[in-house]
Amino acid sequence: MAKTLTAPLCRKLEKAARDAAKKSYSPYSKFRVGAAILAGSGKIYTGTNVENASYGLCNCAERTAIFSAVAAGERVVEAVAVYTPTPGVTLPCGACRQVINEFGPTALVISVCDGSERTETTLDRLLPDAFGPGNLK
Ligand code: THU
Repeated sequence: MAKTLTAPLCRKLEKAARDAAKKSYSPYSKFRVGAAILAGSGKIYTGTNVENASYGLCNCAERTAIFSAVAAGERVVEAVAVYTPTPGVTLPCGACRQVINEFGPTALVISVCDGSERTETTLDRLLPDAFGPGNLK
């Protein structure tokens, strides 16, 4: 079951995602994305998209944040917030949904943008019947 976050914690996670977008390395798409992860320990990890002249190597903000959390020893993703500088919200791409599933199959997924739109859903709704660690047991 998705963890319920208090409103102040949601705001904190959303702000962390907005701040992370300022560090975006996106000279090709010019699409500056920020993400923040609430990890199992309660700590927040942030990430931004990191592009490459070899376009296929671009890494999304969500995956940057998760990889950073895992590298710090975390193994659980409770919630993900993603910010895009757009009038409407953006939800994580398919690759990021799969990576979130590995550590947070029921994680809360919040999307915020420059407009007033804000969405809150869960990873199992975004990636139903997911392939995951359980399939390899
Ligand atoms: N991007 C993200 O960082 N997260 C998403 O959820 C969607 C797409 C990035 C990848 C690439 O750097 C740019 O946005 C355009 O696709």
